[in-house]
Amino acid sequence: MPNFQTVRGMRDLLADEAGTLNFVISKARETAELYGYREVITPVVEPYELLSAKAGEEIRSRMFVFKDLGNRTVALRPEFTASIARLATGALKNEPKPLRMLAVGSVYRYDEPQRGRYREFYQSNYEIMGASNPEADAEIILLTDSLMRSVGLHNYAFKIGHVGIIRGILGQENVDEKTQSAVLQLMDKKEHNKALELIESEPCRVALKGLLDIKTDSVHETIEATKRQVENYGDAASAVQNLQEILTLVAERGCPVATVEPTFARGLEYYTGMIFEVYIPEVEVALGGGGRYDRLVEVFGGEQTPAIGVAHGLDRIVMAIQTQKTPPNKCEKMKVAVVPVKTIMKGRALGIAQLLRTAGISAELEVMGRKINKALEDADRRQMDFAVIVGEREIEQGCVVVRDLAKREQCEVPISDLPKILSSRS
Ligand code: HAM
Repeated sequence: MPNFQTVRGMRDLLADEAGTLNFVISKARETAELYGYREVITPVVEPYELLSAKAGEEIRSRMFVFKDLGNRTVALRPEFTASIARLATGALKNEPKPLRMLAVGSVYRYDEPQRGRYREFYQSNYEIMGASNPEADAEIILLTDSLMRSVGLHNYAFKIGHVGIIRGILGQENVDEKTQSAVLQLMDKKEHNKALELIESEPCRVALKGLLDIKTDSVHETIEATKRQVENYGDAASAVQNLQEILTLVAERGCPVATVEPTFARGLEYYTGMIFEVYIPEVEVALGGGGRYDRLVEVFGGEQTPAIGVAHGLDRIVMAIQTQKTPPNKCEKMKVAVVPVKTIMKGRALGIAQLLRTAGISAELEVMGRKINKALEDADRRQMDFAVIVGEREIEQGCVVVRDLAKREQCEVPISDLPKILSSRS
């Protein structure tokens, strides 16, 4: 017999976990609404070229790539940003700016499976296009703060950097863009020595080494030390200035910034400005990350469009909720079992179940043909709230029996009052 397990790195989510994931998704959508982001739905399968254009080697090498039956090279999306940037060059090209968009769904990366790292996972992804001001950067961080808070997480904190610092130094010393990206990728993997080895220019290496040597827990001191390190590099100095402005905006709103790292880099290649990730102490991996990418829309053939966004790892947020034992404040709906006393009452029982559902009450019909005691035992075991028992004698009088399964009490109720009575008890 074949052993049909899930493909490595892919998971089945059973009802409890799926419930928590859906709870987080509902909060992600609520957050989007609060901040004015409108949801778009893009395909899971996209042209390989679109997804790989500016993703960076790290993600490019982990994409699920294949030929479709029309011999097109396509891939499963490893993220949403490229698809959304495509919208800005096409369908939404003439829309007034800023454009605020949300996308929610599964994404795919051939990562090495481990705790919090899967090959199919879920993201809520927010992008704001057309705004270059630091308020837009601050909004994306604050929106992440709102989501973390609304799902009940605590002690989360942000790590923030700015790719303009390293790019500014390297650019001024004429290091080409490809090498700049390679340096940033190595920085992302914390392979600092290898990154330094890639740089031929001595002053450049000294400047980068100086940034790597900044070791202080104070955000203010980090910024001041970084400013001193880059004082001879105009673009890098402007990047620090921009970072400081964003930090002031978010700090004033009480957003917990734990660390600022001048050499912080992220896997994706398209970033041009502020970048950030959010963590909780109990989980090593980031719960979300994003940053500014002012040139991606242009790469896809659109007009120059400044943009910034973030994606939250929803599976990791679920894991964080479980780790912090945050009771997800899912408002559990009242559950009612509808049980016919005899088989001949099944049609009437079905009618009662429909009546309840029409009134917005969740009703599960006894479909196993079990005797009343067995059906009630099962409803009890599944922690249902009430059983509606549909008996011949009561039906003749237009009534049913409502049993409170927790209190083990029951009473006769006219069918016409049933939805109202049950709703009042929820
Ligand atoms: P990212 O940092 O590659 O950014 O992914 C965002 C989040 O997805 C991560 O912080 C993490 O929580 C989650 N994640 C990444 N890989 C995995 C995995 N293998 N298993 C489970 N969760 C994972 C982006 O995707 C960018 N598109 C974000 C962005 C939007 N930047 C600008 N706009």
